[in-house]
Amino acid sequence: MDLERLLSDRLAPAFATVAGGPVDPLVRRSPRADFQSDAALALARRLGRPPRDIADEVLRHAVLDDVCAAAEVSGPGFVNLTVADGALVRMVAALAGDDRLGVPVTGTPETVVVDYSAPNVAKEMHVGHLRSTVIGDAAVRLLDWLGHRVVRVNHLGDWGTPFGMLIEHLVDLGEAEAAEELSMGDLDSFYRAARGKFDADEAFRERSRRRVVALQGGDERTRQLWRLLVEQSERYFLTVYDLLDVTLTGDDFRGESAYDDRLAGVVEDLDGLGLLRASDGAACVFPPGFVGRDGEPLPLIVRKSDGGFGYPATDLAALRHRTGDLGATRLLYVVGLPQRQHFAMVFAVAGAAGWLRPPARAEHLGFGSILGADGRMLRSRAGESVKLVGLLEEAVARATELALAKDPGLDAGTAAEIGRAVGIGAIKYADLATDRGKDYVLDWERMLSLDGNTAPYLQYAYSRIRSVFRRAGAAARPDAPVVLAGPAERALAVELLGFAAVVAQVERSLEFHHLAGYLHRLATTFSAFYERCPVLRAPDEVRESRLLLADLTARTLRQGLHLLGIRTVERM
Ligand code: ARG
Repeated sequence: MDLERLLSDRLAPAFATVAGGPVDPLVRRSPRADFQSDAALALARRLGRPPRDIADEVLRHAVLDDVCAAAEVSGPGFVNLTVADGALVRMVAALAGDDRLGVPVTGTPETVVVDYSAPNVAKEMHVGHLRSTVIGDAAVRLLDWLGHRVVRVNHLGDWGTPFGMLIEHLVDLGEAEAAEELSMGDLDSFYRAARGKFDADEAFRERSRRRVVALQGGDERTRQLWRLLVEQSERYFLTVYDLLDVTLTGDDFRGESAYDDRLAGVVEDLDGLGLLRASDGAACVFPPGFVGRDGEPLPLIVRKSDGGFGYPATDLAALRHRTGDLGATRLLYVVGLPQRQHFAMVFAVAGAAGWLRPPARAEHLGFGSILGADGRMLRSRAGESVKLVGLLEEAVARATELALAKDPGLDAGTAAEIGRAVGIGAIKYADLATDRGKDYVLDWERMLSLDGNTAPYLQYAYSRIRSVFRRAGAAARPDAPVVLAGPAERALAVELLGFAAVVAQVERSLEFHHLAGYLHRLATTFSAFYERCPVLRAPDEVRESRLLLADLTARTLRQGLHLLGIRTVERM
């Protein structure tokens, strides 16, 4: 049970009595007391009464004696709550014996499809795919831990007209050579070379066009060449996932091609539902409410004028598969914000067609861009988009160097392990600690700093606690009596009891900066506690209790970082 929930459950019946119906007490952390409820202010207008009166009456009805040391009305009508030490002690003791750190398994498990990463075959992964991969993987980890059935889908761009020129280029190079170039991760130069020929050479263009037709017609040899391209790219993407330490595997690839044989059915059914309209030779749906800059209704093109299907039709088929065949009720799409309108229209059309009906719902988890130090889109010195692996390798190299500078005696293996955990952790954390919708600047100094809201700071806090236990020569006793002797211990207890509330909030919002912010607050609260409260030198009973608090902090940091996809190390 977390504190916010407990207090909320106590206030809710009192508010209901006063308001004559259910009210969310809006309990949250407060700098003035431990917690504060603002609900009386919102109710004042509805009930036509002064908010302070409402708050007073709520406090007369609420049963709080066993959990609060003080409950009072303040300011314009806030209810301030100070939790009783006895209640804190009881709850921390329960937390210490709980493997899940107070976070319950969900009572309403769902099938959730997380569509993330989704790079394009024979094209380099760029930093946008980095954000999708990192955010999507955090969503997978969190929802899975809460007990949902999570289906990862890597909606690979493996289909469409570019494959004509890619296959022809492959034929020109020879299979062996092409395979080698692709497996080395030289995806961009392969793509550029194909594109170059396509733009310059009419004969090549013609071959490419015929090749697309052969691919779509299921020509055996063409399919074989296409498979080669896809497999080499997949193999390369898997090495990036491995370096990035994400949970995606080869089984999670389900590219656009997987829906090819359903596209005609999608368009037919939309037609049967009377949703299709012809526009310039294309078959379109005009979902209500979408208009362009000129005020004209916007089409979602499901069949192009050349008869081909494209990206929108594929997404409709994929969505229908996810709700219809997989039985998913929550669909998440972790894709950059430039595709916001695309998804809004796809969801609207799927809704109109009856493929997306409550309780099933779809959410586009959009995100902003990663910027360079100059505040513009991150680019390499040559002005090209930055190669993801290069970025990751640089992070690991920098972090390894920092670890060795701090402790020149480290053996190479340990330095490499720390470098990897810290370097990759720093990249992921910088991403997840920022509000998802915003852009952020990739700033090496800041994200690798041991101070501030960074992965290294949290990893260091964790390793410092572990070193206390090494020196203690023993683990914490989870059944040790909890003693809250001073304000620093008390503050730490309140913070530890907040983990479940933040996890519940992120389960709904999938805004991981709330979890990151919580972990950072926990680590700073621990550090204040550690400065003021000696652990190993304290008298026996206090020492046991402080070890228990330290251990709970370490476990919470570790679990929280794990949910973000970030490793902890025992020493750094
Ligand atoms: N391959 C696309 C890109 O690189 C992203 C696909 C996202 N997922 C989807 N279901 N449309 O932009």
